[in-house]
Amino acid sequence: MMTSAGRARPELIFGLRKVTEDAARAAFDWIGRGDKERGDGAAVDAMRTALQQIELEGLVVIGEGEKDEAPQLYNGEIVGQPGADFKADIAVDPVEGTSYLAKGLTNALAVIAIAPRGSMMDPGPAFYMEKFAAPAEAKGEIDPNWSVEEKIKVLAKCLKKDVSDITVYVLEKPRHRQMIQEIHDAGARALLYPAGDVAGALLAAIPESGVDCLMGTGGTPEGIMSAVAIRALGGEFMGRIDPQLQTEAIAVKEAELDTSKWYKIEELVSSDDLFFCATGITTGLMLDGVEKFNGGFRMQTLMVTGETRERQVLTTYTPN
Ligand code: FBP
Repeated sequence: MMTSAGRARPELIFGLRKVTEDAARAAFDWIGRGDKERGDGAAVDAMRTALQQIELEGLVVIGEGEKDEAPQLYNGEIVGQPGADFKADIAVDPVEGTSYLAKGLTNALAVIAIAPRGSMMDPGPAFYMEKFAAPAEAKGEIDPNWSVEEKIKVLAKCLKKDVSDITVYVLEKPRHRQMIQEIHDAGARALLYPAGDVAGALLAAIPESGVDCLMGTGGTPEGIMSAVAIRALGGEFMGRIDPQLQTEAIAVKEAELDTSKWYKIEELVSSDDLFFCATGITTGLMLDGVEKFNGGFRMQTLMVTGETRERQVLTTYTPN
């Protein structure tokens, strides 16, 4: 249902586009320079400054880490315009794919996700999450506990495709060796990327993107951001907390988080009044990266508005 809050802010998505564009533009200077910390720092700085122009009071639920390790956009920080009417939860990743940025490789993005205050899951100490993402046709049809083969078979049925035409996006990590084998054994394709599962999740949810599904374990913050974008797009996303580090496993246990539970998209973000923007930093499967030309920059941004389910890809040309 369309809320008055959603109708009252059609311009918000265009403001947010500027926030990820500014982060991408700042990160551009650091492409291929082997310094992911400074590249990320430049993007964080630009994003935080740009957020001050946006009429919302944003609580950073997913940011650059805890206050003592992140001077800006830390978890719990209030950003934007304190006191503004729209109280929001914010998830940011000024550079999603910092290693891509440092190495000058494909698929680095600047990302922001916005939801009404209190509607975004706070992952606490959980760094890693197992994820399943797919297009709308598969929503509610697949049990994430099934075998890889079963999931692919049912997905193919939902998408009216042959199993051999199904493409699964997977992060190429040692922890996924067995799963990749099972995807091959099932007769499907596995598209292997060393990083960047927000792009993978978005591609999985967008029809005709060439990717039908995302499987495997990546960052929990990236999972929540993907859930916001995919709920806004109307696709399927589920996540299960899946600690990979010993310290993380202890913290997750102490926080009494259930590692056997698959969270539904509605539990990861409980509103439809959502806004999501991603700007390409380096060119990837989904978006062109920042390009410098005589006198200016060209940037491409995916903008998604949850209330209207609108998805736009905007190319912006800016002077220097
Ligand atoms: P960074 O931007 O922090 O480099 O993260 C990139 C990424 O590949 C995410 O897309 C993914 O969710 C996560 O890292 C996976 O983490 P890891 O490389 O530790 O398995």
